[in-house]
Amino acid sequence: MKDNHWKSRKVVIIGAGAVGSTFAYTLAQSGLAEEIGLLDANHELAMGQVLDLAHGQAFFPSVQIREARKADYADAHLIVITAGSKQQPGESRLALLQRNAKIIQNIMDEIVQQNSPAVVMVVTNPVDILTYIAHQRSGWPRGRVIGSGTVLDSARFRHLLSQHCGVDVHNVHAYILGEHGDSEVAAWSMTNMAGMPIEQYCSLCGKCDDWETSRRKIAEAVKNSAYHIIDYKGATWFAVGLALTRIAAAILRNQNSVLTVSAVLEGEYGLKGVSVGVPCILSQKGVERILQVNLTPEEQNALAKSATVLGEIIAQLGLPGPAFPR
Ligand SMILES: NC(=O)c1ccc[n+]([C@@H]2O[C@H](COP(=O)([O-])OP(=O)(O)OC[C@H]3O[C@@H](n4cnc5c(N)ncnc54)[C@H](O)[C@@H]3O)[C@@H](O)[C@H]2O)c1
Repeated sequence: MKDNHWKSRKVVIIGAGAVGSTFAYTLAQSGLAEEIGLLDANHELAMGQVLDLAHGQAFFPSVQIREARKADYADAHLIVITAGSKQQPGESRLALLQRNAKIIQNIMDEIVQQNSPAVVMVVTNPVDILTYIAHQRSGWPRGRVIGSGTVLDSARFRHLLSQHCGVDVHNVHAYILGEHGDSEVAAWSMTNMAGMPIEQYCSLCGKCDDWETSRRKIAEAVKNSAYHIIDYKGATWFAVGLALTRIAAAILRNQNSVLTVSAVLEGEYGLKGVSVGVPCILSQKGVERILQVNLTPEEQNALAKSATVLGEIIAQLGLPGPAFPR
């Protein structure tokens, strides 16, 4: 097709596997993007996903869905990276991380080479480490390179609290901070039901005998959510697709939404040299501001511990700086 004139609100998704294609599907349904480009190292897969999605165009709000090329980075609003390798038999986690780090660095080099004005969102796991690597490689302001962070974990937290308390999930406000992974932190001090702190709600509700035990179980269940789904069906893709669409809405519609994306810290929460999930104001520029919430000393310590876990892995990688320093 000769026409490569992309309009505004263009999103390029790199990696057309389970997560990338589900995100494309939910994004197309949302009507947020006028153009969605899918790019994958496996050209046949990308083409198959594009055709399958494009055949739904009669049912979507108006949207163009095409295979993207690297040149499309040049006028994309948002570039979402879901590309990654799977663990090979016998491969260590660190070796897999090194391979995925290389993939992300190469992709960032290509995006920077195109002089892209986009906000880049990393989704590939381990998302916080790869976000840090992507930002470091780009040489861009930190707000323009974000990770999907703990937006999905926070949604899982809200779902479980909603089920436990018997309250509509939309009236449950709750945040997971830190690593998208085992060291994540349930920020109970930020949790409220329709504006009522959770402890206050609990004393009114009186449904459970032992709130301390319930609290622990809920936080554990959030942490283990992905493992359960992976045991059942091999991977997760629906809820993450929706979480990514929520983040995309904040960026494409310039909403100034507060979402716990992964952001590179420069002293916030007393931390630096890592990217972790923290409450951020998100607009068309990416992270406008990192909100420093007054956490309890216990939560602050847990967040610092989570950042240390990630910082130690980053140090093991011995990363080079930006390929195109500016
Ligand atoms: N951050 C989150 O909340 C979250 C949630 C779920 C999954 N994930 C992660 O998202 C990633 C993707 O998961 P998936 O289930 O879609 O995996 P998948 O294997 O289905 O898809 C990955 C795709 O990336 C492609 N790819 C590999 N290298 C590439 C490159 N250099 N350029 C372009 N494409 C390339 C592969 O061909 C493949 O199609 C994984 O790392 C997964 O752990 C993150």
